[in-house]
This record gives sequence, C-alpha cells and structure tokens, in this order.
Amino acid sequence: MAVERTLTILKPDCVRKNLIGEVTRRIQEAGFRIVAMKMTRLTKDTAGGFYAVHKERPFFDELVEFMSSGPCVPMILEKENAIKDFREFIGATDPSEAEEGTIRADFADSVGENIIHGSDSVENGKKEAAYFFSEAEVVANKA
Ligand code: PPS
Repeated sequence: MAVERTLTILKPDCVRKNLIGEVTRRIQEAGFRIVAMKMTRLTKDTAGGFYAVHKERPFFDELVEFMSSGPCVPMILEKENAIKDFREFIGATDPSEAEEGTIRADFADSVGENIIHGSDSVENGKKEAAYFFSEAEVVANKA
C-alpha cells in the first residue's frame, strides 16, 4: 500500500475543549506520523479560502465563522493508506452517524462543530497541506 499524506485540522472546538493532547495521542497511537504541525488562528478570509469548494452551500458562512472563532491546529500526517484510514479513524462528518470509538463519535457536538478535519483524497490532501505549510515546515518523521 502506498504511503500517503493527509491534512488534518484540530478545529476550534477541539482546542476549546482542551482535547489537543488526547486527540493527538490517539492520532499517533493509530499509526499516523506527524510531519508538520502548528497552532494558528484562521481569519475569515483564510477559512473561506480553505473551504472555497463549499462556498455555495447553505452552511458556508456558519462554517467560516466557526473555523475563525479561535485557534486551531493543522497537521500533515503520513501513513500507508492515510487518506481512507484517517477518514475512518475520525468518523462520519455528522457525529450522530459516526462509528463508536471514532474521534467525532467520542467528542463532537454537531455536523458543524465536529472537532477535526481530514482530507478526502490524495490530491486534495496535497492542496490542503500546501495551504497551511511551506516545504520547509514539513519534516521527515520515519517509523
Ligand atoms: S464531507 O466530509 O466533505 O463529506 O462533508 P460535507 O457534508 O460535504 O461537509 C463539508 C464541511 O462542511 C462542514 N459542515 C457544516 N458546517 C456547518 N454547518 C453545517 N450544517 C455543516 N454541514 C457540513 C463539515 O463539518 C465539513 O467540514 P470538514 O472540515 O471538511 O470536515
């Protein structure tokens, strides 16, 4: 299986609930290697740019408001089959539909405030990683 990279964001609700440590521990325990990580606060423009693909959807303004409401923690993670495995690991977008034991089932309140983001394809993972990190900020973190 190919080694892939995925972009995750520990969203502002994750930070507010003091879950950075617990979620990061679970990410590492599940075998994802952190190759880039930072804490940042998105502006409305930066959040809107990241979610630009959803700009026609009815929840866009709410999503931008939420994602710029406080600090968040983007990371690039590396692992074999990272894209699919990470989406399974975090659970469905709507936490009421998320599998037991996933991050969203355990910690998320709603489809809007759902703790964590994960890229949905290898191509989008590359674009999203480049949105937050320069090449120089990505480090080798071998198993
Ligand atoms: S997905 O993961 O792309 O299949 O999910 P999707 O349903 O297309 O949602 C895309 C992102 O929009 C967020 N979202 C919402 N925010 C606020 N209000 C409502 N109602 C809402 N519905 C969806 C959702 O959390 C997804 O964010 P990410 O960061 O991609 O998981």
